[in-house]
Amino acid sequence: MTAAPTIAEEILDLKRERRAIILAHHYQDAEIQEIADFTGDSLELARAARDAEGDVIAFCGVWFMAETAKVLSPSRVVIVPDQNASCSLVEGCPVEPIREYRRRHPDHVIVSYINTSIEVKAESDLLCTSRNAVKIVNSIPADKTVLFLPDRNLGNYVKRETGRENLKIWQGSCIVHNTFPVRRLLEAKALYPSAIVVSHPECPEAVLEHSDFIGSTSAIVDYVAAHARRDFIVMTESGVNFSLERVAPTSKFHYVANENCNCSECPFMRLNTLEKLRDSLRTLTPRVELSADLIAKALLPLERMLAVK
Ligand code: 13P
Ligand code: SF4
Repeated sequence: MTAAPTIAEEILDLKRERRAIILAHHYQDAEIQEIADFTGDSLELARAARDAEGDVIAFCGVWFMAETAKVLSPSRVVIVPDQNASCSLVEGCPVEPIREYRRRHPDHVIVSYINTSIEVKAESDLLCTSRNAVKIVNSIPADKTVLFLPDRNLGNYVKRETGRENLKIWQGSCIVHNTFPVRRLLEAKALYPSAIVVSHPECPEAVLEHSDFIGSTSAIVDYVAAHARRDFIVMTESGVNFSLERVAPTSKFHYVANENCNCSECPFMRLNTLEKLRDSLRTLTPRVELSADLIAKALLPLERMLAVK
């Protein structure tokens, strides 16, 4: 008697049948990252979606990332295992006030973090990710006023790094990173004095002030790979541990989260499961559907971002 296929085997069969590619963000469960064709940060995933072959992109991340994939790869079917995989930054930044801002300040440059809805992207002049935000803002002429949205911690970080005074910042935040208290970080530093502190720029300013390295998820992975004999205090979502252990198997990683626990999982990212991935490959739902008009409008700031070297 032959054994029933595992979920992972079912996914691999469906992947072949559907001519699908599986893209995963670093915050996905390890079992999803294990089966993915490519794991990366939001900039790398956008590039991978643009360059993807086949008919289907199974996007294991949050909805705004899958929308970005659809804009860059409109002829492909883009599916996400769980339709409710949103993001607090997206939810805290509705499009109407942005349209109103645009009406009142037609000469300002609107730079949107990629963690925004497709409607907000369509109203933006430029997009950025946590990996290239400083570079993108530096690419804008110094005399232009910039509205940076929606993450205030990333915005403040960009303001400090660029020294730009004419940068207005939307007051959104990430429900995961914004709750990391500096008090807990200082306790961890006292406990592990030789560990290097690596942080995502969505963390509060006080946390970033005590960090040795600040960068996107993949930038953190690259930094850890380059310092692989050290131990680390990691100020980001703990799903990144899968990639960190791969590049630095002998290092120890200490996670600091909010006041009450050491769990730093993003509740939106973790809605995706292996079972839901299999089901979405079976039914090709939930599927990202965008109008041609919205795709055309969002493509412009996205292409401008990808063109900045
Ligand atoms: P990265 O672009 O660093 O992968 O970040 C995405 C994100 O949602 C961080 O919370
Ligand atoms: Fe959004 Fe924060 Fe989750 Fe990233 S970790 S997807 S910013 S809620």
